[in-house]
Amino acid sequence: MIKSICCIGAGYVGGPTMAVIAINCPKIKVTVVDIDSEKIKRWNGPVENLPVFEPGLSEIVKKVRNRNLFFSDQVDEAIKNSEMIFLAVNTPTKTSGEGSGMAADLKYIEASAKKIAEVAINDKIVIEKSTLPVRTAERIKEILHEKEGGPSFEILSNPEFLAEGSAIQDLYKSDRVLVGRDETKSGRNASKKLIDIYLNWIPKEKIITSNIWSSELTKLASNAMLAQRISSINSLSALCEKTGAITLEVSKGIGMDHRIGKHFLNPSPGFGGSCFEKDILNLVYICQHYGLNEVAEYWHQIIKINDYQRDRISNNILKYISNNNTASILGWAFKKNTNDSRESSSIYISYKLLSEGVKLKIYDPKVHKHRIINDLINLNKKKNQLSDELILNNLVVCKNIDDALLNSDIIAILTEWEEFKNINTKEKIIDTRNICANSNVVFNL
Ligand code: NAI
Repeated sequence: MIKSICCIGAGYVGGPTMAVIAINCPKIKVTVVDIDSEKIKRWNGPVENLPVFEPGLSEIVKKVRNRNLFFSDQVDEAIKNSEMIFLAVNTPTKTSGEGSGMAADLKYIEASAKKIAEVAINDKIVIEKSTLPVRTAERIKEILHEKEGGPSFEILSNPEFLAEGSAIQDLYKSDRVLVGRDETKSGRNASKKLIDIYLNWIPKEKIITSNIWSSELTKLASNAMLAQRISSINSLSALCEKTGAITLEVSKGIGMDHRIGKHFLNPSPGFGGSCFEKDILNLVYICQHYGLNEVAEYWHQIIKINDYQRDRISNNILKYISNNNTASILGWAFKKNTNDSRESSSIYISYKLLSEGVKLKIYDPKVHKHRIINDLINLNKKKNQLSDELILNNLVVCKNIDDALLNSDIIAILTEWEEFKNINTKEKIIDTRNICANSNVVFNL
């Protein structure tokens, strides 16, 4: 039985997944490490200020931190002392070199594998938790086995399917746990050890095994299929707006067909989050690599529709800009119940509005002011259409919803936080889920 686990990467995946393992497996010592010492300080600080906000997370951390869950920046020591190591580091899109703008950047994964090869003195099971291109395990194996006569390593793929905003619930009640492994005796042994951990709280029938490549590809494909549904309904929202059909009514009618199902059929200002776009780009890149150009183009279209939808919503908002030249942006997180704003549509829509000379009043219940400003400044580094000064002078990040609603031409609800559902104001409202449906639903309450 495994007694010690280490997770490299204390982010949105590493933190919550290890907290849930720790609370369900009190006999296993779980250490989450990160090279970002500031982040580790916050994981070890007051639970109200953890680097990741997820409903239910702080309660678990309170119970198990320093019992069998530890956060540390001492990466070498944690690797040495663990039998099983999860890799939960980030895998962003490459920004330079071959595959720039499309392929996954594996530098953090490779650095972690090199670190394990360098410091490990006994055998380890190494688990891919990060989302990776199909056949990455091969590269990890190469790195780990470079040192002749060193300890032996078994690689497993165990992709994470949690959704931010409901991560704890998802981890407790996973639809499935997927373990990819080599069809060898040692591969099967390693996978059994990992499955034994999950069996502490996941029913046996929800745990499935596959070969490593299937497991890696399943994760990319799952994200692509989810994003595809969002782009499908968003593309239809444009047609609804032209024809007088109402998207919410159409999506309800579609979703009640049990063959289709109702999830991921709400129109929106476009999907955000750190995963969908980068994982689809990665999928497109892999297809192109294998010469499957039609397949690549099929999946690429999902991102094109997403960009189109963000642009379309920005233009819809611009139509209502008049007296004050000011818009209220409600919601910065890419979805409710998270403090994560990576790739949020709010960033893109706000940037477009700023570039049209609109002044913004922005409010989000969980995203800090410095993050909102950084998001816009970082996008400007890529687009280079505005001066940073203009951005800073034309936006106010508000501390509460009332301030955000004062004196603006239009209120655009871009994240569906609960507190935005019952706004009582005389201002005009755009709930983007409705404006997609029908431009007449901009209304005065
Ligand atoms: P994140 O950016 O929140 O966390 C990654 C952490 O890894 C960072 O804190 C970074 O400092 C750390 N790190 C990078 N290199 C390191 C190294 N050499 N040694 C120690 N620490 C290192 O990323 P997030 O969102 O947790 O994602 C991690 C992976 O999980 C990605 O591959 C992502 O695609 C995947 N994933 C993410 C989901 C999500 O909802 N965020 C859901 C499912 C999978």
